[in-house]
Amino acid sequence: MTILLVNGSPHAKGCTFTALDTVAKQLKKNGLKTKLIHIGSKPIRGCIACGKCAKTGRCTFDDDPANEVAAALAEAQGLVVGSPVYYAGPNASVCALLDRVFFRKNTQYAFKPAAAVVSCRRGGASASFDRLNKYFTISRMPVVASQYWNSVHGNSPAEVAQDKEGLQTMRTLADNMAWLVKCIAAGDAAGIPRPVPEPVEVTNFIR
Ligand SMILES: Cc1cc2nc3c(=O)[nH]c(=O)nc-3n(C[C@H](O)[C@H](O)[C@H](O)COP(=O)(O)O)c2cc1C
Repeated sequence: MTILLVNGSPHAKGCTFTALDTVAKQLKKNGLKTKLIHIGSKPIRGCIACGKCAKTGRCTFDDDPANEVAAALAEAQGLVVGSPVYYAGPNASVCALLDRVFFRKNTQYAFKPAAAVVSCRRGGASASFDRLNKYFTISRMPVVASQYWNSVHGNSPAEVAQDKEGLQTMRTLADNMAWLVKCIAAGDAAGIPRPVPEPVEVTNFIR
C-alpha cells in the first residue's frame, strides 16, 4: 500500500518537506510505502475550465506535474498534501495544481484517506489547512485526523525540527492514516461493500 505525498512548496527540502518526511518515516514504521512528488518552482497553470479532462481523463496541459499527480493519486491508497502558508492560505501553485487534479476526476479518488499538512512561520496555518481539506471533502475522501490541526512552525527546517508538538502531530497523523488505510483494505477483504454513489444532483439555487 502506497501513500502519495505532494510537496507543494517551491523548496524541495524546506519546512514543508520536513513535515512530510516525518509523516513518511512514520508511515514506513507502519509498513506502508510512500511516493513523494515535489511540485517544483516552475510555473503551474490554473484551471482554464475548458472541460477537456471530462472527455480525455487528463488535463490538457502537460507541462507541469498535474497529470503526474492525478495518475499517482489514482494508483495510491492515500494522500497527504503539504503546503507552505502564503498570506494565510496555501501557496498559489499548489492550489492551481489541485484545482486541475481534482476537477471532473475526483470520483476516482473516493474512499482514499487524505490529509493536508501546512508549514508557516507564525500565522495562517488553520485557514490554509481548512482550504486544502476542501479538495478531499468534495471528493468522498475520508479526512484523517491527528492530535491537532496539521501544522508545523518554522522559517527553516532547523526551526521546524524544534517544533516538537508539530512533529508529533505529523507522526500521529501517519499512525492514523496507516490504521485507516489498513481498515479499509480489511473491510474490502471481508466483503463490506463500499457505498454506491447516487446519480449526482447538480443545482445552483436558480428556481
Ligand atoms: C510569499 C510568502 C508568504 C508567506 N506568508 C506567510 C503567512 O501568511 N504566515 C506565515 O506564518 N508565514 C508565511 N510565510 C512563511 C512560510 O510560510 C514559511 O517560511 C514556511 O515554513 C516555508 O515552507 P517551505 O520551506 O516548505 O517553503 C510566507 C512566505 C512567503 C514566501
